[in-house]
Amino acid sequence: AAGPLKDGFGRRIDYLRVSVTDRCDLRCSYCLPKDFKGFETPANWLSHDEMARLVGLFVALGVSKVRLTGGEPLLRRGVAGLARTIAGMPGLQDLSVSTNGTQLVRHAESLRAAGVNRLNISLDTLDAAEFSKITGRDCLDSVLAGLAAARQAGFAPIKLNSVVHAATPESDVSRLLDYAITQGFVLRLIEPMPMGECGRGFAHTDLNAMGARLAVQAGLIPAMSGSATGPARYWTSGQGAPVLGVITPMSRHFCASCNRVRLGVDGTLYLCLGQEDQVPLGRLLRAGASDADLTQAILAGIAAKPERHEFVSRPDQIVRFMAQTGG
Ligand code: GTP
Ligand code: 5AD
Ligand code: SF4
Repeated sequence: AAGPLKDGFGRRIDYLRVSVTDRCDLRCSYCLPKDFKGFETPANWLSHDEMARLVGLFVALGVSKVRLTGGEPLLRRGVAGLARTIAGMPGLQDLSVSTNGTQLVRHAESLRAAGVNRLNISLDTLDAAEFSKITGRDCLDSVLAGLAAARQAGFAPIKLNSVVHAATPESDVSRLLDYAITQGFVLRLIEPMPMGECGRGFAHTDLNAMGARLAVQAGLIPAMSGSATGPARYWTSGQGAPVLGVITPMSRHFCASCNRVRLGVDGTLYLCLGQEDQVPLGRLLRAGASDADLTQAILAGIAAKPERHEFVSRPDQIVRFMAQTGG
């Protein structure tokens, strides 16, 4: 592999997140409109071979971490096969999946066998009625069963992603933390970002104080910063392993240490979650571009990666919704 990929601000880009489908079986209020009709047409979905070809070019350029995401990635037929191909790429060190958990009972074993080492699973509440209200489907039980299946299959760590709104009662979040600690999961609280038409009306949420309070109540201490990469800041039990984290794109963004870019289901390379800058790698690929051409397009894109998002100052700027870019 070549030397580390660096963007125009000197940030090392070693993490590629791939949305393998923009479809989802849930309609979380902050993510997808209930009656959404704008999904990508199947003719534009990259095949597994096409996706693997693009991912392989990134890995050859020094990307060592890949996350399969969506939409709901487990809705994409044959996703474990794609995972197996990616897991076998020389230089790949970490292959993870972000999922809503509804289909995990069926998929946990095959993903693990394919070489996926980590799972991040969305779980906003332990209250069945509240779960239905947020997601539009009454299926909390299948998600909890999916979590058990994931642990049974040997994934570690398993991180729970919880979007927390300004109006979410702290007692609900505290209940989630108790559950996570009991089950041995890592709980991460996420500030909602305005993406697409969904998130525009959100009251601004600042989770720093809530995270700190819950940590004290649970006897946790702040993790050494700098040791962990990625957007979350963690508290630990003292043994070093993270237990609780906050992801605070709105109140305290983490763009200065950004390490990632994203690939949409049609092969569009999104250079930043909070900017529209993109490179149509899928279109180039289907127009017959060579690996060398595609590599040049990737390098030019990464050199032009934006410095940061502008969710706070320009809340209606991002027209695409989360499932399109990949969380
Ligand atoms: P790990 O590989 O487990 O560290 O994953 P991660 O921390 O990158 O997290 P994950 O993929 O589970 O993303 C969790 C949430 O963090 C997403 O749903 C987003 O809300 C937020 N997030 C992830 N990446 C970015 C990013 O690049 N920018 C911003 N603003 N938010 C992000
Ligand atoms: N803001 C923050 N996080 C979001 N997610 C989806 N939409 C948003 C948003 N507008 C999160 C989900 C899931 C992950 C894949 O993306 O909660 O954990
Ligand atoms: Fe990176 Fe953009 Fe996310 Fe900031 S908002 S962390 S620059 S992808």
